[in-house]
Amino acid sequence: MAKIRADNVKKTFKIKKEGNEFDELPALAGVNLEIDPGEFMVIVGPSGCGKSTFLDLVGGLTHPDEGTIAIDGKPITGPSRDRAIVFQQNALFPWRTTLGNVEFGLESINPDQDERREIALDYLSLVGLSGYHNHYPHQLSGGMKQRVSIARALALNPSIMLMDEPLAALDAQTREFLQRDILRISKESRKTVLFITHSIDEAVFLGDKVAVMSARPGVIKRVVDIPLTAEERASDDVVAATEFVQSRQLLWRLLKEEVVKVEEAQSNIHAEDHSNSLLLDKKTGLINSVRAFARI
Ligand SMILES: Nc1ncnc2c1ncn2[C@@H]1O[C@H](COP(=O)(O)OP(=O)(O)O)[C@@H](O)[C@H]1O
Ligand SMILES: [Mg+2]
Repeated sequence: MAKIRADNVKKTFKIKKEGNEFDELPALAGVNLEIDPGEFMVIVGPSGCGKSTFLDLVGGLTHPDEGTIAIDGKPITGPSRDRAIVFQQNALFPWRTTLGNVEFGLESINPDQDERREIALDYLSLVGLSGYHNHYPHQLSGGMKQRVSIARALALNPSIMLMDEPLAALDAQTREFLQRDILRISKESRKTVLFITHSIDEAVFLGDKVAVMSARPGVIKRVVDIPLTAEERASDDVVAATEFVQSRQLLWRLLKEEVVKVEEAQSNIHAEDHSNSLLLDKKTGLINSVRAFARI
């Protein structure tokens, strides 16, 4: 049975206008996706196509208008400890140490303070932060803060990790190190991962499969299998492997078509703006002529 299964998931946002009027913004137009237990599924898609909207739905933070998302065959009704979320911007408590931050989620489920501390220290060590347990977030680099966020999510021992561009704000080098750690940890702990990125290389490096979303309103356009073994991914020059290069080319082609659609839609809006301003110019011109005429 699929670990996560989305069937015809639709979501439209209502944006308030003046008075009681609303504009409708369709974000997802029927997403179908299956993720197997222990699978690393990456979603890529043009900016604004509905990736985060979908991840929030899987997290149970919002509800679909139509369709269902089921975990182990059971429809989602809300958030759950079994589905931990890591966002791009870490949401650490600045007044707590790294240890205190990782312990936080455990406080509601484990009354034993010593055990909590032990679990938190284990997870800090797993993400490479042993020795930093007494540091406060402001004393850590961006990469280290994301490591704490990941440790905090893992400490709850969820079976699913939902990661929304968790590395997007980091520099290239830090990002590569974290990618390797995320891959290692997710495989060792057999998590099912839904990971969003806008980097094709990151998608190929991490994903067992990469789902390409269409331009908004998003649907899954294609799911691409990435035929790289764990050994190949562990190699320093995985990016030179034929499978890596071919997967990257295929994804780039699929994604480019969608990005072009977004750009075309935007240029149509600009063209409309332009024609509006032309109209305005004509009107101004007319007014000026009338003024000129009146002066005569
Ligand atoms: N809470 C919201 N209210 C209104 N519109 C939203 C809301 N969240 C997202 N949107 C809009 O829905 C679309 C998809 O957003 P999002 O899922 O964040 O895209 P992505 O993560 O792919 O960049 C965008 O046009 C965005 O502006
Ligand atoms: Mg997003």
